[in-house]
Amino acid sequence: MTELQGERVTLRTLDVADVPRLRELRPRGWASEADWPLEGSRSTRYTILLDGSVVGFIQSHENPEPEYRHAGIDIFVGTPYHGQGIGTDAVRTLAVHLVRDLGHHRIVIDPRADNAAAIRCYRKVGFTPVGVMRRYERNLETGEWNDGLLMDMLAEELDTSRTAPRG
Ligand SMILES: CC(C)(COP(=O)(O)OP(=O)(O)OC[C@H]1O[C@@H](n2cnc3c(N)ncnc32)[C@H](O)[C@@H]1OP(=O)(O)O)[C@@H](O)C(=O)NCCC(=O)NCCS
Repeated sequence: MTELQGERVTLRTLDVADVPRLRELRPRGWASEADWPLEGSRSTRYTILLDGSVVGFIQSHENPEPEYRHAGIDIFVGTPYHGQGIGTDAVRTLAVHLVRDLGHHRIVIDPRADNAAAIRCYRKVGFTPVGVMRRYERNLETGEWNDGLLMDMLAEELDTSRTAPRG
């Protein structure tokens, strides 16, 4: 089991015991599979903990092809916990792990183009917008295709000023 320590949050390898609370906190339309988050995902999945309580979910996926090697991040924080810096702390903590421990030079993240809170959160970590991916993701409840914003961050752009150095 991996535990990644952030400024306030802890990212802990997803455990089956966390699933009921994560399913309660999961936003509508987020990974709608019936067996989420235990479906055969190739992502590395973590529970976000604050003071020992489950407050959200974050995952990374890696493209291992030598020519294109990079990693991507997805996250949600439960609505009662929004706006307290938890998302920023969690994304930064996972990005630090991907850069420092796994040697990635580039991380991507792709919020909906109208998701201002997510875009603000990711900018605070060091991500910058690359461009709009038109009709990129589908809302499976309405069938509507929504634009996504591709954001990326190079290792040297990651703000590690609030992160403890690793030994
Ligand atoms: C995106 C998300 C993870 C952010 O988590 P969080 O813990 O609320 O994030 P933080 O508190 O660290 O930062 C949010 C920032 O957005 C700002 N913000 C909130 N609502 C906003 C809005 N409507 N417009 C602009 N900025 C907004 C906050 O003020 C804060 O910035 P500040 O610290 O400069 O004041 C969370 O909103 C979430 O889980 N949303 C639902 C799922 C989702 O959209 N996931 C992203 C998929 S890519």
